[in-house]
Amino acid sequence: RRVVFSGIQPTGVPHVGNHLGALAQWQRIVKEAAAQPADSRDSLFFSVVGLHALTVPQDPIRLAIERRDMFAVLLALGLADPAAGAVVFHQDQVPEHAELAWYLNTVTPVNRLMRMTTWKSKLATIRNANSEDEIDDSMLQLGLLAYPVLQAADVLLYKTSHVPVGHDQSQHLELARDLAQIFNRAYPGRRKDGKGKGKGVFRVPEVMLTTHPRIQSLRDPGQKMSKSAPHPSSKIFLTDSASEIHAKIKSAVTDSTAGVTWDPANRPGIATLLQIYAGYSDRAGGVEEIAARYSDAMGIMRLKTDLAEIVSESLKGFRDEFARIRTEEGYLAAEERRGAERAREAAQATMREVRAAVGTT
Ligand code: TYM
Repeated sequence: RRVVFSGIQPTGVPHVGNHLGALAQWQRIVKEAAAQPADSRDSLFFSVVGLHALTVPQDPIRLAIERRDMFAVLLALGLADPAAGAVVFHQDQVPEHAELAWYLNTVTPVNRLMRMTTWKSKLATIRNANSEDEIDDSMLQLGLLAYPVLQAADVLLYKTSHVPVGHDQSQHLELARDLAQIFNRAYPGRRKDGKGKGKGVFRVPEVMLTTHPRIQSLRDPGQKMSKSAPHPSSKIFLTDSASEIHAKIKSAVTDSTAGVTWDPANRPGIATLLQIYAGYSDRAGGVEEIAARYSDAMGIMRLKTDLAEIVSESLKGFRDEFARIRTEEGYLAAEERRGAERAREAAQATMREVRAAVGTT
């Protein structure tokens, strides 16, 4: 049986890039699982990863709001469906994540972490911010370097077989796969019958890359659409109103060639609009076919109008549900408790095995 795990940082409301890149795939997995017979159903874990958010400075009051909102987002997307064996929970309410991360730290080569593109780009940003090439000690913390180890712990803790993510996470998950193997070799444990060495605690997880490409920023098509980018108009939030969606798509940066063509290398702005269109219409994948319908002189304008309509319609159900759930404090708190309990049960079982294999019990 499959065990699916994935996580999202509670740093702001998710945007259509997060949705097409990851969350829509989670929704699909939940739907499929709900249709499976109960006795052979997959286990699905979707986590709001608050501990990861702490690797950059956070305002405590804002973080408290954002992690709760992200939880409400995942509920509103229908991801906590008991009929599908799906659990939504806060990573920071399950202490086993941090515990396992420590065990994994002890077998992680530091060089592997220093080769991560996320770490290197952070270093580059800090170097650029400082005129001399000297790095201010207070700007780089161990937690940021160790971020991918915590992510590996998230995944391995549930003996996960499948991790649905966007393309930007593949390097992190490659590390998770390697750490599973390194740890299994270092601590094979005993066979259940007591005769000889075991095979180790962890399953080596498979990455399920989304079929959607990385969605780029609406303002700067060279950059990915990012929760942390300062400009709200660079991204469409899942919670945006219909009029906000229309305004953002209308002002999206395109180019001065008339008519729509599929040419991602030379027309990245148009390509992003087509990708979002394909993602939210039933003709997913048909970017070229969609482009052909808008090839006339007024094509870009028509594309934008239709796209705004499609996105806004697709997100309407979610928007209403989110607005409703967000105000139901009691329901949210109960779901948070339920999720944490279910996740913790699985997490504790794995940690018992880890401790036994290592000799810390
Ligand atoms: P995060 O919170 O940055 O993003 C959540 C998911 O959204 C995808 N994504 C995108 N996909 C397409 N286009 C974009 N512009 C775009 N931006 C983000 C990401 O690939 C991701 O799947 N490190 C992770 C969180 C994490 C995690 C885990 C994921 C922590 N532990 C364990 C999987 C398993 C992160 O920062 O995702």
